[in-house]
Amino acid sequence: MSIRVDDSFLDSAGATDELAADARAGLTSTAKSLPPRWFYDARGSELFEQITDLPEYYPTRTETQILQAHAGDIAAAAPVETVIELGSGSSTKTQLLLDAWQRTGTLRRVITLDVSASALAEAAVALSARYPTVEVQPVRADFTRHLDGLAKSGRTAVVFLGSTIGNLDPAERAAFFGAVRSALDPGDVLLLGTDLVKPAEILVPAYDDAAGITAAFNLNVLQVLNRELGGDLPIEAFDHRAVWNPADERIEMRLRAGREIRARLDRIGLDVHFDAGEELLTEISSKFRRDGITAELAMAGLNLTHWWTDPAGYFALSLSQ
Ligand code: AVJ
Repeated sequence: MSIRVDDSFLDSAGATDELAADARAGLTSTAKSLPPRWFYDARGSELFEQITDLPEYYPTRTETQILQAHAGDIAAAAPVETVIELGSGSSTKTQLLLDAWQRTGTLRRVITLDVSASALAEAAVALSARYPTVEVQPVRADFTRHLDGLAKSGRTAVVFLGSTIGNLDPAERAAFFGAVRSALDPGDVLLLGTDLVKPAEILVPAYDDAAGITAAFNLNVLQVLNRELGGDLPIEAFDHRAVWNPADERIEMRLRAGREIRARLDRIGLDVHFDAGEELLTEISSKFRRDGITAELAMAGLNLTHWWTDPAGYFALSLSQ
């Protein structure tokens, strides 16, 4: 069985145009960077799934533990008809929530939103098999831009797990929370997963694992550029780096050029130059504190009402209205 993915917000041609614009802007500026959404082609989505099973990568299993303990509390606090999951990926953890919401008897539809068409399609098959009475609507879209276009109906929970919010910088988070606030009606909620600040000795290995899966995930973005934009970036000349930035309390993933590199993205006529040792910032993964995230939500008019963590205090789920 397969379910049609709604790609009216973002189709493959549109995504390639956006990648071209991001590559042009991000690879020609003095501090080179690319938005992390370009990690998630089919191979990148698969590598991310492998990351979630790594011994060093605690966020997924910790968030799962919190969901196992509190999905019933969450469903009871917000008996909703519609669930909108942002950055849904494989939707594996979501099933713990959906099971609980099904038990409350209110759940009617699930809208999954992700940039990865392959992850959406696979997850939709799994969700419709598990919840035959629930309408499953996979939507290929960018959660930073396409929230307002979603056709929600009835009491709604917007669910944003995995601390994907950490990929946004503070200004982007303010804009995102503002958009969520505008999309919510009275009685609707935001369920947010946030990875918490902890010692660098725990954080850095989570983004630089011994098996090299995160390195492969990071380097894969160069493959995406080469394939989609006709490039000849020499992937073997780059090294994966994961750095803790204590001032901004975030992990920064970078790709470091081991030598001077001259390459070309032929399809967009772009020459790319790296000095030896120059770095490309591919992802920020911000870590949070309870006070900080409460204040950020409040600035957007969202009132944090519940806070659940694991015993070690590694990760938190919060509910806001
Ligand atoms: C999917 C954004 C939550 O930041 O931890 C995992 C992505 N990057 N390892 C994260 C990721 C490197 C992940 N998020």
